Amino acid sequence: MSTARTVIFEAPGGPEVMKLVQRPVGDPGPGEVRIRHHACGLNFIDIYQRSGVYPLPLPHALGMEGAGIVEAVGEGVTHLAAGDRVAYAAAPPGAYCDARVMKAAQVCRLPDSIDFRTGAAMMLQGLTVEYLFNRTVPLKAGDTVLFHAAAGGVGLIACQWARALGIRLIGTAGTDEKCALAREYGAAEVINYEREDFVARVRDLTDGRGVDAVMDSIGKATFEGSLDCLRPVGMMISFGNASGKVPPFDLGILGAKGCLQLTRPTLFMHIAQQEKCQSMAAHLFEMVESGKVKIRIGQEFALEDVAEAHRQMEARTTTGSSVLTV
Ligand SMILES: NC(=O)c1ccc[n+]([C@@H]2O[C@H](COP(=O)([O-])OP(=O)(O)OC[C@H]3O[C@@H](n4cnc5c(N)ncnc54)[C@H](OP(=O)(O)O)[C@@H]3O)[C@@H](O)[C@H]2O)c1
Repeated sequence: MSTARTVIFEAPGGPEVMKLVQRPVGDPGPGEVRIRHHACGLNFIDIYQRSGVYPLPLPHALGMEGAGIVEAVGEGVTHLAAGDRVAYAAAPPGAYCDARVMKAAQVCRLPDSIDFRTGAAMMLQGLTVEYLFNRTVPLKAGDTVLFHAAAGGVGLIACQWARALGIRLIGTAGTDEKCALAREYGAAEVINYEREDFVARVRDLTDGRGVDAVMDSIGKATFEGSLDCLRPVGMMISFGNASGKVPPFDLGILGAKGCLQLTRPTLFMHIAQQEKCQSMAAHLFEMVESGKVKIRIGQEFALEDVAEAHRQMEARTTTGSSVLTV
């Protein structure tokens, strides 16, 4: 049996709780594959898990995304073979490693034109954008969407996806440089929400009407303001909590602010079934291969520097996607 370097943590806490250990990697059982990684993706969910916002049984490995080569397939796996280039976003956490055994259902063959670093950077964030724009609320060309953290990993993909669909995306970001980046990647309008009142600006930009949907991954700090940006019966998509969880609130607020709709989706529900996951990935690959969506890897770290990667993500100094190379 071979071993692999794997990042684990034994108690919730700051970036320092992560440590790199050698662990055995076995053979794949039925429905599983063994993958040798070339790169792993870094995502904000890794921080929620490490810090205890999304508790995991401990000790636990971390990382929800990777790309590499299939070394072995278990019984019953028909869509993959040893030697295939693959990429995935999937639970359970454990992607920060050289090699792992995992369920095959969410592992997708990576087109030859997409390199491993890009594959590792794009799956979780790209599949998220796929479901946000195509499977959450009916959106059509000409609609307006407010998207927070538009220069982040999910954000820059969203800017381009919206542009490709003819949707007017109003993006927010925390610095003027990030706002410029979001605009470069397709945001029609940008708001620096650290120094501007984003509610007032959105009202201005929509002639008082409000936007058709808000895609809010900031949570606590923006939730109420986001509701105030919606048109009547508009859709609030709350899909993350970078600033903290949205506190419990009175449902009556949705009525008072204009019969608003609210959903709290997760990628992992959308990709739970193999067939749907593979078809969403095919759609994402098509968007990237056509050049409509470019994956910007803003930061790259060695596996042993994972703590520094988390520090930078939490300090809001990253842009685009981040990867670990192994
Ligand atoms: N539900 C789902 O299916 C799903 C799937 C994927 C991702 N997500 C969520 O989508 C969001 C984006 O994920 P990502 O991996 O692409 O991260 P990211 O956007 O690259 O990084 C998070 C960004 O959030 C902004 N932010 C605002 N307040 C913050 C705070 N108090 N602390 C840290 N960041 C803050 C920062 O941008 P500014 O400086 O510009 O404000 C920061 O760069 C995360 O909330 C993540 O959990 C949800």
